[in-house]
Amino acid sequence: MKSILCLVIAYFLGAIPWAYIVTKAVKGIDIRQVGSGNVGFTNALRTIGKGPALLVLAGDIGKGAAAVLLAKYLATPTIAALAGIMVLLGHNYPIYLGFKGGKGAAAGFGVMLALLPLEALIAVVVWLAVIFLTRYVSLGTIVGALTVPISTIIFNQELPYLLFSIVAAAFVIVKHHSNIRRLIEGTESKIGK
Ligand code: G3P
Repeated sequence: MKSILCLVIAYFLGAIPWAYIVTKAVKGIDIRQVGSGNVGFTNALRTIGKGPALLVLAGDIGKGAAAVLLAKYLATPTIAALAGIMVLLGHNYPIYLGFKGGKGAAAGFGVMLALLPLEALIAVVVWLAVIFLTRYVSLGTIVGALTVPISTIIFNQELPYLLFSIVAAAFVIVKHHSNIRRLIEGTESKIGK
């Protein structure tokens, strides 16, 4: 019963669309209608600037970490890993926005911080390095996500966490399909432009 409750809470926490809420509050606009249309931190950064976008980042990271910490506390590592997937499902397919949400990068990072902090740190360093070198946030996210299962294997983490890292990374990368197309076509937007 506790396990099911943790998974349900994880979905509904993940589904809180911070990018939509903050953009609506700050500028009165629907983030789905501007920029990349993505309900996420990067598009919030483009639309409302650094300060308010940091609120989005904190909200997305916070909800991911909170859901997993709750599951870790009340249930087992397997349920905590499943709660991480439920956060991503909630974030990417939020009930509050007709199931059209974000790509799960910041929320996934929050989950990782609670589940696999060292691997999360590696992913964020790689994310920042790729952005610094290329100015493509999406490419940073894709490469950062790729490091997650690799470092989870290297650090020999328990099986539920390894399975989580593979599914989560695949999920985040697949959700970037339009970014991948734009990167190949050379039309992806660069940060700071
Ligand atoms: O986390 C999403 C980021 O990697 C790309 O965002 O708005 O450029 O599609 P966006």
